[in-house]
Amino acid sequence: MSITDPAITPEPLERNTPARLVVLVSGAGSNLQALIDECESPEYGCTVVAVGADREGTGGIERARRAQIPTFVCRVADYDDRDQWDDAMTRTVAQYEPDLVVSAGFLKLLGPRFLTEFDGRVINTHNSLLPAFPGINGPADALNYGVKYTGATVFFVDPGVDTGRIIAQTVVPVEASDTVSTLLERIQVAERAQLVETVGRLMREGWTTAGRWVELG
Ligand code: GAR
Repeated sequence: MSITDPAITPEPLERNTPARLVVLVSGAGSNLQALIDECESPEYGCTVVAVGADREGTGGIERARRAQIPTFVCRVADYDDRDQWDDAMTRTVAQYEPDLVVSAGFLKLLGPRFLTEFDGRVINTHNSLLPAFPGINGPADALNYGVKYTGATVFFVDPGVDTGRIIAQTVVPVEASDTVSTLLERIQVAERAQLVETVGRLMREGWTTAGRWVELG
């Protein structure tokens, strides 16, 4: 594969140093915490400039406040319809001029205006080996199916549910004795490490795409 191939789109390398991350959360925010911790090291090359949630009272927003990172909450219920919420999310996130938007357990589908505004710069982490077990119950669905291996996937967000181009995957074994919570815990250890590594590499090294294939560096 060569970047002279017209099917391959080189992504622009110009970005802020450190790269500006906006992280979106709906829950506990353990992936966010891993990013916040890694951003303390200057070599990592990234900084979390804002954390947003779609609901009040999330652990993720608490973690951001403790780290003195600006936060916002943008609830669908506060708008007349989904389009207006999409506009509000887009305007709010744009104010922080992100190089990358990281959806880390954000449990709402991002709207078309948002995805256009931050075209190709929105990633998500999901707790299964996509395309298997998309949605919000990845670990339980994997356990119930009886797979021997599952894992976590980082991908570029597109309008579908967990359907975007895959950037990185990590494999986690399923044990006979697993419950949903033991499996989830094992997946999340690997997921956090993968997310931190992938975000850092995307921002430091850039990436190219060829169809659905994403190449870091
Ligand atoms: C993560 O395991 C992530 O994969 C999952 O939510 C969890 C959030 O954990 N996301 C999805 O299922 C989206 N399809 P966290 O709030 O502790 O980072």
